[in-house]
Amino acid sequence: MIEITNERPTDAAAIETLLDQAFGPGRLAKSSYSYRKRVSRLWPLCLVAREADALVGTIRFWPIGIGAYAAPALLLGPVAVRADFQSTGVGGLLMRASLARATAAGHRLVVLVGDEPYYGRFGFKPAAEWGVSMERENPARVLALPLDGSDVAIPSGLVQRWRSVRREAA
Ligand SMILES: CC(C)(COP(=O)(O)OP(=O)(O)OC[C@H]1O[C@@H](n2cnc3c(N)ncnc32)[C@H](O)[C@@H]1OP(=O)(O)O)[C@@H](O)C(=O)NCCC(=O)NCCS
Repeated sequence: MIEITNERPTDAAAIETLLDQAFGPGRLAKSSYSYRKRVSRLWPLCLVAREADALVGTIRFWPIGIGAYAAPALLLGPVAVRADFQSTGVGGLLMRASLARATAAGHRLVVLVGDEPYYGRFGFKPAAEWGVSMERENPARVLALPLDGSDVAIPSGLVQRWRSVRREAA
């Protein structure tokens, strides 16, 4: 039976192996990784899927700032499921569980870079609809989800790395 739990520091090596298998060794060069460099991930939202003792899925979140006022938002990803467990619903479990936790914690907006045909089923739409964009990313793959179901007061502007946002604001 699949169990969804919080990621633990001891899961790090198994997650790196899973991410290498899912995205290939070049994954760290993706521009979306620049938002994660030297920024701590949001541990309460980072979940793993286990089958018995094996780690078969991961989802992680990072803080980002949006627009001139560096409005806080979440960067979702990476999310990956071990190849032999794909299309069995594990990705959906990880998505729904983490988004429910993010909503309960009061987060307002989630941004990700990915395929709308997959993430659309969780309510994600092109972020351009709210005027949100990411440098060096195809706008069709930059997706956003307002968590409280309302798009009133959703910030617009460029996605920025969290720590540089704080430093500039200081
Ligand atoms: C994307 C991923 C996390 C989904 O996890 P999963 O456990 O396979 O997802 P689920 O079982 O909840 O859903 C499977 C459905 O999503 C669809 N799907 C998976 N990836 C998709 C994609 N990139 N675009 C469109 N649909 C996709 C499957 O075809 C399947 O469709 P069905 O429900 O009509 O059969 C997983 O396939 C994966 O790890 N892929 C490699 C890494 C990756 O691409 N990560 C996402 C980056 S955008």
